[in-house]
Amino acid sequence: MQKVKKAVFPVAGLGTRFLPATKASPKEMLPIVDKPLIQYAVEEAMDAGITDIIFISSRTKRTVEDHFDKAYELETELVARNKLRVLEAVQSIRPAGVNFIYIRQAEALGLGHAVLCAQPVVGDEPFAVLLADDLLDGQPAVMKQMVDQYNYYQCSVLGVQQVPREDTAAYGIVDASAMADRVSRVNAIVEKPKPEDAPSTLGVVGRYILTPRIFHHIQHLKPGAGGELQLTDAIAALLREQQVLAYAYDGIRYDCGSKLGYLQATVEYALKHGEVGEAFGAYLRAKIC
Ligand code: UTP
Repeated sequence: MQKVKKAVFPVAGLGTRFLPATKASPKEMLPIVDKPLIQYAVEEAMDAGITDIIFISSRTKRTVEDHFDKAYELETELVARNKLRVLEAVQSIRPAGVNFIYIRQAEALGLGHAVLCAQPVVGDEPFAVLLADDLLDGQPAVMKQMVDQYNYYQCSVLGVQQVPREDTAAYGIVDASAMADRVSRVNAIVEKPKPEDAPSTLGVVGRYILTPRIFHHIQHLKPGAGGELQLTDAIAALLREQQVLAYAYDGIRYDCGSKLGYLQATVEYALKHGEVGEAFGAYLRAKIC
């Protein structure tokens, strides 16, 4: 049995909804209190036993590379100033035994194309894809829950949740048949259907475990709107020859690709933050009374 050891993090999108903040830095570097979104997602993957972290980045946005690199000058300075707690926080970004790999996506040709860029490194293994602008708060970590499903069923697994019918045009929507608790078999998947055309209200969020056969299907895709290669279309082709499961994860999702979701996540994570949570809660209570 092949284990899921590699995870792909596409961070080369244009991030138009957060411009100008995302002009020189990917939206995945936006902080929730004191950690960038991408670090939450990388930690989620590491909690699931993933050891190879593969970033798909773009030449104009190098901050992800810098964030996960060793910072000699900063660490020396923190030691000199005896700021050992922060030093530990900085060093823990790169735990021993985890590899950080960077691939450039020369043009933002869509999520499917970004995933395809990882093929030379992923090779013939199952792998995870995490879109860090979907912040998932789950215990155990949502990717760990999904890896458990992969280990049991040995097929591709999509993270899904119920979405309001009026919002289906913002998601890949699956038609699925229930199989077990939280698990259903995907019969069909459509990208961003209008509410009246949606086969269900089960929306795919930014967590996937895919078999390497997906690369074949991405390679054979015809570009869709804006010349983009859609991962959803490749999954639609994959499920004609392999079983694909939808897994309704146990956790809360914050859509941090949207301003409202980002602000909600900031409030929730600030309220439970060890350093500022209490004071922030008092501030909010005073503000709304
Ligand atoms: P989105 O659909 O959210 O697009 O991408 P976007 O460009 O990042 O953001 P908006 O909608 O313009 O504000 C979903 C994920 O796929 C990555 C993004 O970085 C994000 O994690 N992506 C998208 C790429 O890496 N490359 C692409 O060509 C497109």
